[in-house]
Amino acid sequence: LINGLIFDLDGVIVDTAKYHYFAWKKLAKELNFAFDENQNEALKGVSRMQALELLLNFGNIKASQEEKRLWANRKNRYYQQCLSNLSQNDLLPGVLTFLTKTKERKYKIALASSSKNAKTILYHLKIENYFDFIADGNMVQESKPDPEIFLLASDGIKCPPNACLVFEDALSGIQAAKSAGMLVIGVGNSKVLSTADLVISSFDNFNLTEAEAYFNNDSSV
Ligand code: BG6
Ligand code: MG
Repeated sequence: LINGLIFDLDGVIVDTAKYHYFAWKKLAKELNFAFDENQNEALKGVSRMQALELLLNFGNIKASQEEKRLWANRKNRYYQQCLSNLSQNDLLPGVLTFLTKTKERKYKIALASSSKNAKTILYHLKIENYFDFIADGNMVQESKPDPEIFLLASDGIKCPPNACLVFEDALSGIQAAKSAGMLVIGVGNSKVLSTADLVISSFDNFNLTEAEAYFNNDSSV
């Protein structure tokens, strides 16, 4: 029985994944290499420093720790500039309705985001009150695909992993949730997110009761 819902933030609740991509692409351009959307899939979900390592690998760039620190900060500045006008309009389709409905049905709700900007983003979106527990990038040692952040979230809402359902848009996040022993719904493109238990294109018209029935009837989960 599912009684805890754990949400990733960027690309699941709010349309910020495109800003992360924009900021990394700008940095790549300044470092003189091209970076595309396919490569960007690998950066989704992972911490800022891990993402930088992956980006530099794509560009075949070796750098000192100091350069890496400066570039990660620079990327974060570009990203934060994109966030300056963030509002409820940036919530992804159907999210607010879904959060409201699930809250009424007394599910425990947690956030599990790798982002160190998560709290600022929730504040701009004015949706902090929906969450019983917030786990963000400042609270973990290991980045997704490590399960640490999901285990922290499940602990925070006092729901054992097998009673938690995770919503994720990143391959690293799906892997992390599975390693934590949770069910995962991928939000996005089913071709990309094929490792999830179920994939939805958005929360618009998403019916949680139907999804639960699907999981209960599926002997493989
Ligand atoms: C995740 C994003 O939510 O947060 C990643 O999917 C990002 O793309 C990571 O690298 C860390 O974010 P931040 O805001 O701490 O740089
Ligand atoms: Mg995400």
